[in-house]
Amino acid sequence: MKILVIGSGGREHALAWKIRQSPLVDDVFCAPGNPGMDAIGPCFDVDPTDLHTMQELVLQVSPDLVVIGPEAPLAAGLSDALRARGFDVFGPSQQAAQLESSKGFAKDLMTKYQIPTAAYGRFTDLTEALDYLETLAPPYVIKADGLAAGKGVVICDSLETAENEVEAMMTGKFGPASSEIVIEEFMQGEEASIFVLTDGDGALYLPSVQDHKRVGEGDTGPNTGGMGAYAPAPVVTPRILELVQTLIAEPLIAGMAEDGMPYQGVLYIGIMVTESGPRVVEFNARFGDPECQALMAGMSGDIVPALLICATGGLALAHRQIAEMMGLQDFRPAATVVMASKGYPEAYEKGSPIKGIETAEKVDGVTVFQAGTSVDAAGQLVSNGGRVLAVTSTGETLEAAFTNAYAGIGHIDWPGGFYRQDIGWRVRG
Ligand code: AMP
Ligand code: GLY
Repeated sequence: MKILVIGSGGREHALAWKIRQSPLVDDVFCAPGNPGMDAIGPCFDVDPTDLHTMQELVLQVSPDLVVIGPEAPLAAGLSDALRARGFDVFGPSQQAAQLESSKGFAKDLMTKYQIPTAAYGRFTDLTEALDYLETLAPPYVIKADGLAAGKGVVICDSLETAENEVEAMMTGKFGPASSEIVIEEFMQGEEASIFVLTDGDGALYLPSVQDHKRVGEGDTGPNTGGMGAYAPAPVVTPRILELVQTLIAEPLIAGMAEDGMPYQGVLYIGIMVTESGPRVVEFNARFGDPECQALMAGMSGDIVPALLICATGGLALAHRQIAEMMGLQDFRPAATVVMASKGYPEAYEKGSPIKGIETAEKVDGVTVFQAGTSVDAAGQLVSNGGRVLAVTSTGETLEAAFTNAYAGIGHIDWPGGFYRQDIGWRVRG
């Protein structure tokens, strides 16, 4: 079969790499892809949110399955447009993807289905928002309603900074994405992520993951898309996972189906493990990046049957066999460390040469996934984005996986890059 992977990040490189290993797959195509994905299959230089061009491309390639990696094309309605033309798509509808594209939508659904999360208010009126702030105690959690490239959540320690932030957001800080805001109660605890594959009815739970969102050592500095991740996450005990299933995932999947907007694809549940159990921090409508890199590396079996059944239905009856085909029963501990351009997440330079990927991949268990890379006129791999490589490894234990990943990084020769030395500090002893 032919599979088309949409996206160009490390997440999509990992998906395409895993899909390519399936005995069911003859060809993998990527749109737009990156130099790492180019080595897996033909890449088409298109904008995934341009629905017209994407439909033309899909008609031309005629894939048996389209796998949509990032949130922007989901929010733009790409899965609906392709399904309407009869294609099988792994990725939720535009309506269901509002779980990520509108924080207020997600919070309202959680209230409706009685899913544990932080108390909140939704506001389009500045005075009402400021009045609500005064009823809360610090720290204050302020969120732009719409997509803001991972920067739309600000946590403020004082009422004054919170008031300023609310005003900045509602007067255009993130454009239309913050004309509506959500103000939330602060939740104390340790964060983790649960990825659930679903066809809108059945559900398959992947190993839990933890990522590091902050740019600096010791989890300090500004938020990024993610500087590293590992799976499984010990904080998600069997008991916590059971609570996530029964109190969060099952009511959400069943409720959305009943409400006529079944969720098909991967559901990303960001949880806070609090003293009173897991509570939802956020939902996303896609795999995490770099969480996906760790999950794909650790999975010993075939992911394609799972992706297909989420797109076509029937998971509830087959989920045990699908889990076996994926090799979930012997998932290998996996770690990924992101190398980013110096300066990220603020301004950074592009075009700095990267060498040593092949040597890094000779280290036991290591695979290097590419994100913001390109090839220059001389054929040299160079940096072309903020997050550039995800050096990923499996190991007997998480500690061994990290030892391998950092050994891999040691072979990468990229003067323009940096990485955090302390990814996985909770599990590295
Ligand atoms: P989000 O984009 O909603 O995941 O928020 C980004 C980050 O802000 C999360 O990963 C948390 O670290 C933090 N955060 C968001 N909401 C809350 C909350 N209600 N309480 C504590 N921390 C939060
Ligand atoms: N690594 C966090 C995310 O993908 O949203």
